[in-house]
Amino acid sequence: MRAMPFTDGGTGESPLRDISNSGDLRRVPIHPDHWYPLAWSRDLKPGKMIGAHFAGEPVVLVRTVSGSVFALEDRCAHRQVPLHAGVVEGESIRCGYHGWTYDCSGQCVDVPYLGKERLPNGVRAYPCREAHSMIFVFPGNATLAGDRPLPALASVTDKAFKTRRFGGEVRCHYSFMHENLMDMNHQFLHRRQMGQMRARSLARRRDENSLEVDYTFARMAGKQPRGEALVFGASKNRADPSARSVMTIRTQYPYQTLEIRSADDTLVMDLWIVYVPLDSRQRTNRTFGLLSVRRPAVPFLLDAAWPLLVWFTERIFKEDCAIVELEQAAHDHQAADWNHEVFPVIIELRDLLRRCGGRSVIPIREAGDA
Ligand code: FES
Ligand SMILES: [Fe+2]
Repeated sequence: MRAMPFTDGGTGESPLRDISNSGDLRRVPIHPDHWYPLAWSRDLKPGKMIGAHFAGEPVVLVRTVSGSVFALEDRCAHRQVPLHAGVVEGESIRCGYHGWTYDCSGQCVDVPYLGKERLPNGVRAYPCREAHSMIFVFPGNATLAGDRPLPALASVTDKAFKTRRFGGEVRCHYSFMHENLMDMNHQFLHRRQMGQMRARSLARRRDENSLEVDYTFARMAGKQPRGEALVFGASKNRADPSARSVMTIRTQYPYQTLEIRSADDTLVMDLWIVYVPLDSRQRTNRTFGLLSVRRPAVPFLLDAAWPLLVWFTERIFKEDCAIVELEQAAHDHQAADWNHEVFPVIIELRDLLRRCGGRSVIPIREAGDA
């Protein structure tokens, strides 16, 4: 993870900067050739279906009676009605209108009023896998799915950590979310939760598909709130830089992680997060986050404090969502990118998101928009 080309944290110079730092990033679609979660596992019970979306494409997620999952285009080949309005029958699904039936490959295997020899073509099937309590779909070129790894979430499966799953719909382009998490200069937004903190970026590293930056934090005034101590670890001596934890935020396209390591290099907090576009203009995303916190030596201490941790992280997430939605609203109103970004880390992140993004361009407005 750390064996990447190094660029200095303060100068803004990057060997890759000159190629593409123009164009409106908010019109760059997310690249479809990756695994994206479309639902939490717990929301898809055996014998049930969920209608989901990826960038405007309707996808039906199915859990068969035996418990396996598959994903199809959520449009019946007959009259285009959503398949998720139908029923699961054993290992197949039956459309709720005239009863056309599809198997896990999308093939139409039964039309109740036609002979087997006259069955029509079926619907598109998406590569689909279940991991880490999420149902992942590969919406792009299916032939690439086998070579693209699912994200490895080591802390989620490590018993030394307790994991919280959170997220929801946020009305903004996915790039605002990446920028929000990576730009720790927005501590002022969280002043009611965090008090007066100042972030200092130490260094950043970049390769083709990733960018990561290290931060330390100094408390400018006041005492550390208890909620923050739970998530970030209690700060014994923040005046001494060598005693401070280091936060590393990484965009590993299209995912993002945030790790906090204590002064002795122990991983104490590990966040994995992804922002899945829902609509065709990619102005709304569904965020899936897994926040893992290392259990302290005292058994059950973290479990007892969990409600406070949930409350604290929920407040922070809410503040972040509210502000990025305002950013998106301003962008839509201006119909262009008027941002005046000054932080080299974010300028480089935008560059990365443009380079790794999809090749088409999201229209500024769609027909019928106000
Ligand atoms: S619309 Fe699905 S079977 Fe007719
Ligand atoms: Fe934030």
